[in-house]
Amino acid sequence: MLARMDTMVQDALKDGHAVPAFTCYDFTTALAVVEVAERLGRAVILNVAPKTAGNPSGLRLVSALRQLAEQATVPVAVQLDHATDAELITEAVKAGANAVLADGSASDFEQNIAFVQQIRGLLGPEMVIEAELGALAGNEDQAFEQSAAGLTDPGQVAGFVQRSGADLLAVAIGNVHGRYKGEPKIHWDVLETIHRVCPIPLVLHGASGIAAADLSRSIGLGVGKVNLNTELRTAVLKTVEHQIADRRAEGQNLLGLLGDWDEAVQAIATETFTSLRTSVA
Ligand code: 13P
Repeated sequence: MLARMDTMVQDALKDGHAVPAFTCYDFTTALAVVEVAERLGRAVILNVAPKTAGNPSGLRLVSALRQLAEQATVPVAVQLDHATDAELITEAVKAGANAVLADGSASDFEQNIAFVQQIRGLLGPEMVIEAELGALAGNEDQAFEQSAAGLTDPGQVAGFVQRSGADLLAVAIGNVHGRYKGEPKIHWDVLETIHRVCPIPLVLHGASGIAAADLSRSIGLGVGKVNLNTELRTAVLKTVEHQIADRRAEGQNLLGLLGDWDEAVQAIATETFTSLRTSVA
């Protein structure tokens, strides 16, 4: 069933879980992710990257994901991820997204607030809006090695949340998009301070490469939504690379290759859901 992203995240936190948000560039991935969520009886978020939504047929994928969410037997939200363009946000919501990340994190503090307020004005009080405070290093669609950039300033959090009107807050606490240069180093002191002052659920982007125990620990500190993309892409490409010769030899067996793709996504999704419980640590 289609569900509000803020409510599912709050419910998950009460149960000692976080909700994973998987980037879906295609419908095969989304089907696999929802199948795992249904098998485990857990809520899930289908993230659409702005580059996908901005493609000529990208909004049709958003609509298809909305229908998938509506038909699912568990709560599913469809979110436009990392959006900086008000027009694309409006179109994605019209197409079926029921949450957006209004991402003003590359701007300064006041402009970031103004952008989230602008999007709230466009979408109305009922739309679920995530905001991001503290810019994350890395590219969301291409994984290169990254060191963490600046951290979220905990002193700015309460004012930002209150003035922006965001429903969820993505933070920079040592996380990056893509691959980590060396071991990821989560700044637990920063997360603890943010958790103490932040009245809304926190979001951890860049979960690929972060140890299961660390993901689990973050849930106890208010992280109720965890974004994952690189690990899915890596697993899918590795599978395609391994299987393609056999699938060609079977008579251009695309159906078989899509089955391999599905299995690869299901394996990563299952592992991610398992990590996202406070009891794992
Ligand atoms: P990773 O690709 O590092 O898992 O990050 C995903 C993400 O945060 C999408 O918003």
